Amino acid sequence: MTDSFSARRWTLQQRPDGIPTPDCFMLEDVTLGPVQDGWAIAEMSHISIDPGMRSRLSGDSYAAVMAIGDTVESAGIGTIVASASDKLAVGDLVMTGSGWVSHAHLPAKAFVKLDPALFQGPLTQTAAIGILGIPGMTAYFGLLDLGAPDKGGDMKAGETVLVSSAAGTVGATTGQIAKLKGLRAVGIAGSKEKCDWLLEIGFDAAINYKDAAPLKEQIKAACPDGVDIYLDNVGGEMLDTAISCMNQNGRLIISGAVSEYNRAQPVGIRNTLDFISKRLRMEGLVVFDYARAFPKAQMEMAGWIMAGDLVYREEIIDGLENAPAAFAALFDGSPVFGRRIVKVK
Ligand SMILES: NC(=O)c1ccc[n+]([C@@H]2O[C@H](COP(=O)([O-])OP(=O)(O)OC[C@H]3O[C@@H](n4cnc5c(N)ncnc54)[C@H](OP(=O)(O)O)[C@@H]3O)[C@@H](O)[C@H]2O)c1
Repeated sequence: MTDSFSARRWTLQQRPDGIPTPDCFMLEDVTLGPVQDGWAIAEMSHISIDPGMRSRLSGDSYAAVMAIGDTVESAGIGTIVASASDKLAVGDLVMTGSGWVSHAHLPAKAFVKLDPALFQGPLTQTAAIGILGIPGMTAYFGLLDLGAPDKGGDMKAGETVLVSSAAGTVGATTGQIAKLKGLRAVGIAGSKEKCDWLLEIGFDAAINYKDAAPLKEQIKAACPDGVDIYLDNVGGEMLDTAISCMNQNGRLIISGAVSEYNRAQPVGIRNTLDFISKRLRMEGLVVFDYARAFPKAQMEMAGWIMAGDLVYREEIIDGLENAPAAFAALFDGSPVFGRRIVKVK
């Protein structure tokens, strides 16, 4: 068995001021191994590029701020290349919180073994760090738990769900699950191409927030019966506008705030009186709170994918060296379309 492995990892070198620039990160060569007792080493094939990581480069989020010199965190899939644990064997396909790395040396319990036979037809292995990973779970539990009229209860068919950053994995999955549950789904996205795709995959209406027409007018036109559930991935002014379009007893689920992550000062919401007059409920989501329920949700969603009722879109970027540029493009108006995943080599 090989004792050591030449590996590469991206670390945080300085805290970004605005959109992260290449000099915020450093690609380091490291040697991993020999494998520690009870641990394993995986050679990563793919890693995820997550917008939510941006907030942790600068400050505390639901997880603590990253320290300078830390490996940038992300999910990844790979193959075990060395193991000193009876739970993992060389050749096993695994998913883990690897970070932006070529190889991950971790305790065996940090790896989730994946059955390669499950990934066929429309279900690719990369789905494990996309639609069946954290973003897909965010959509599932955000909508079906926090979005229900009585939290955790049944959804009410016919209600209108509005979701922002709708062509991203969280957004597109939210809209499609809404349709599967008999709700009306309306998405907000940043291009005509994205809006056309949302209609193709079953959304009832799609709004391009970059169009000249005021967003509030566009929401009113696309949601003639008002908005019952708003799943917010964007925050800032868009959240404030959505608040003003909510129905009585509407629910706002705060999933992300991609318009805020690069701002030095957050943009506060002003339409707070609507919370009183319309008896609104707004709640933040931390998807990891639902970790125990992930396997059941993943099985259900895999079934929907195999049946063609739930689709997803990925954009694979070649080369670990391109991770920082792939990350910055999430925020700088680049035409990012689909879950960004880096193919390590
Ligand atoms: N709470 C949780 O537990 C949890 C877990 C996972 C993810 N999340 C959050 O869920 C959200 C969606 O995640 P995702 O992975 O599916 O990513 P995503 O929606 O694909 O995020 C990237 C997209 O955000 C949009 N965007 C960027 N800057 C914007 C701005 N200033 N205004 C409006 N839209 C902007 C862009 O799309 P357009 O072209 O449409 O502008 C971009 O392609 C993220 O905010 C993430 O942090 C939360």
